[in-house]
Amino acid sequence: KPENVVVLGSINVDIGARVNALPRAGETVAGGELSVRLGGKGANQAVAAARAGATVAMRGAVGTESFGLDPVAALEGYGVDMTGVATLAGASGAALITVDAQGENTIVVSPGANGRMAAAGPSCAGALLLAQLELPPELVRDAFRAHKAAGARTVLNAAPAVDPPEDLFALTDILIVNETELARYAGAEPADPADEDEIERAARGLRRPGQTLIVTLGARGALALAEAGRLRVPARPAEARDTTGAGDCFCGALAARLAEGAPLDVALEFAAAAAAISVTRDGAASGMPDRAEIDGALAG
Ligand code: RIB
Ligand code: NA
Repeated sequence: KPENVVVLGSINVDIGARVNALPRAGETVAGGELSVRLGGKGANQAVAAARAGATVAMRGAVGTESFGLDPVAALEGYGVDMTGVATLAGASGAALITVDAQGENTIVVSPGANGRMAAAGPSCAGALLLAQLELPPELVRDAFRAHKAAGARTVLNAAPAVDPPEDLFALTDILIVNETELARYAGAEPADPADEDEIERAARGLRRPGQTLIVTLGARGALALAEAGRLRVPARPAEARDTTGAGDCFCGALAARLAEGAPLDVALEFAAAAAAISVTRDGAASGMPDRAEIDGALAG
């Protein structure tokens, strides 16, 4: 029986515009039509996992003011169980996003209700708990402790890079970071960010015994260090239009496949294929591929 995926994470309203080139300090640039879409690392990962075939329940918080979008209804529309999500007085989390002609972005996150969340809800056995760090990190740590005690697997996408509370990484079965986050957590700024030997050395330093550590390498794929050894998954070629949420797509799709009981190498290939599709589409949650599309890309 597959594990249910429980996503403990942020829910944002992504307010964005496309620009030719990202503005520099003090500069005003013309943008395209304003988009108001579902986002937030938690919501994006929940949508990615649900579209990839998992049964998903979300834990998080929205505000009473959501800038014209109903994030709860949007997530329910993707089949995500939202009964564990609180509604708090005030603004929802929001992100101000610019995307340039190459699909690169800048994002400013205002935490809103995500930052006011006080309790993560009950823990569940037989679940795979997937979290990020756009909620109060101590809350994530406490939830990991409770879920592990109940027998759940814990997956942490340690993004964005924050000061992790003590014990959080030790309570994490599968830790997912990008190159910047790795450098921050490993406490070593790589001399050459593209030097894979240096990345691997930093990753070996960060990884705990028994833990699986996955480093996403953007357009170069991913590297995984596990008890059983090392895996290097190449990226799939993609024409990038909007990379917002690509990392979230990778995490959500990976969690969905792991929850089915797939081995790590299979889940990694699946996640990389999903992420490559997501960058060809506008938006974060709105760009997540479904199971048939991912399987199609893997077969093709
Ligand atoms: O990872 C992408 C997400 O980061 C966006 O959807 C935005 O809301 C920010 O949380
Ligand atoms: Na996208």
